[in-house]
Amino acid sequence: VAEREDFRDVLARKRDGRELTEDEVRGFVLAYARGDVGDPVAAAFLMAAYIRGLSVAETTAMTRAMIDSGDVLPLESVSRPTVDKHSTGGVADGVTLVFAPLAASVGLAVAKLSGRGLGHTGGTLDKLEAIPGFRTALTVEELEAQVERVGCAVAGQTADLVPADGALYALRDATATVASIPLIAASIMSKKLAVETDLILLDVKAGDGAFMKNPAAAGELAEACVSLAAQWDRPCRAAVTDMSQPLGTAVGNALDVAEAIRVLRGDEAGRLRDLAVFFVARALTILDGSTQETARAETEAALSDGRAAEAFARMIEAQDGDPRAVDDPDGILPVAPVRTDVEAPRDAWLASVETEAVGRAAMALGAGRVHKGDPVDPAVGVELFPKVGDAVRAGDLLGRIHARDAEAAARAKAQVLEALGWSDERVDALPLTYAWVGEAPRT
Ligand code: URA
Repeated sequence: VAEREDFRDVLARKRDGRELTEDEVRGFVLAYARGDVGDPVAAAFLMAAYIRGLSVAETTAMTRAMIDSGDVLPLESVSRPTVDKHSTGGVADGVTLVFAPLAASVGLAVAKLSGRGLGHTGGTLDKLEAIPGFRTALTVEELEAQVERVGCAVAGQTADLVPADGALYALRDATATVASIPLIAASIMSKKLAVETDLILLDVKAGDGAFMKNPAAAGELAEACVSLAAQWDRPCRAAVTDMSQPLGTAVGNALDVAEAIRVLRGDEAGRLRDLAVFFVARALTILDGSTQETARAETEAALSDGRAAEAFARMIEAQDGDPRAVDDPDGILPVAPVRTDVEAPRDAWLASVETEAVGRAAMALGAGRVHKGDPVDPAVGVELFPKVGDAVRAGDLLGRIHARDAEAAARAKAQVLEALGWSDERVDALPLTYAWVGEAPRT
C-alpha cells in the first residue's frame, strides 16, 4: 500500500500566507483528484486559499493540474468552428441553455463542460437533468461525436474530463469557499482549456446575485480568466454583465428549462434572450467574420423560424433526454405540487431586487444543495416577472412560487417579497453589459 502523502506543511504555508511552489499545488490537486487526500484536508486548503488568495503562478499551477487530472479534448474531428461559453454563475441565468442550441442552429459548434449549482446560483447540469432521461455524464468520445453530429453538447466534468474540478467544485459549494477570484478562475478555465475550441466566451457576472458583487471585482475575475487563456494561447473574450437582478424570470431547474424553451421558440423577449443573442452574434462575428448586423439578424432569425428550438430537441435526444419537452414542456417537465402567486403590494416602480436572496429562496425550496452530493428537486423554484424600472399596480402578478408544500411556498413568498425594493418615482432600467475584456483573437 502506497504511503499517503502528508500535506500539513503545504497547508501551514498557505495558512500563513506564503506562496506555494508549482509542484506543491500540483501535488495537492492531483492527490485530491485521485482520492489520496480526504475532504477535511482539502477543505482546509480551500479555506486557506480563499482567505490568503493565490498568486498568478499558483492559480496557473492549479489550473494546469486540474486539466492534467483528466484528458483533453482536441475536437479535431469537428468540421465547424467551435465555441465554448461559460458563466461565472448567477440567478435565473439560463444563457447556456439558449446559447448552445442557438449557436448550433446558425452553423457553429458548441462543446461545453458545465457545472452544478453553487451556493445561491443555479447550475446548468442540474437544470438539464430536470429533463427526463437527460444524461450529462458523457465520455470524451461521446462529447466530440455529438458536437460533430448535432452541433452542440453540454456535459459535466467526468472521470475523463477535469475530474479535479468536479471534486473541488462540490467541496467549495459545501464549505463557503466559492467566491474567490483565483478559485473561480481555475475552476472555469480548467474546464474551458481542457476542451480545445476555437473561441472561449466568458460571461462574468457582476452584482448582488453574482459571486463578484460589483463590475470592478467582476472585471478582475474576467482579467484573471482571460490571462489564463492567453498562457495557453487560446482566444478568449469576457463580457462583464449585470447580475443585480435575476437575468431571466425562472429560478429553479425545470423552470429554467421551460423558460429557455420559450426563448428558443421565439415566444419570450427580455434580458435572457438579449444576452444569449449578444453572445451568439459575437461568436459569429469573431469566428466567421460576419458583420455585427448580419450576425444579429441571422441569430434572431434562428429564434423565430424554429431552427433554434429544433437544435435543442436534437441535443436533448442525443443525450438520452425526452425531446418532446421542447414541444410540450408542461406535459414532460416535472411540476411542483404547490403553486402560489406573488402579487404586487402597491402601485410603484420596481427599484431593486436582492438577487442573492431570491436565489436562496429557490435553494431553500430544494432547487439547490445544502450538503455536498445532495440531490436537487427539479420541479421547485421561483418565477419573478418584472425587471428593475418596470411599473406595477397593486395586485398585479409579480411571480409564482413552485413548492413541495404550502408551508415552504409561504416562506419563499415572504422571502421574495422582502427582496423587492419599490419606488414611487420612475426608475431607470439596468444596463445588461458593462465591459468587454480580452484581446481580439488571432485569425
Ligand atoms: N462556475 C464554475 O465553473 N466554477 C466556479 O468556481 C464558479 C462558477
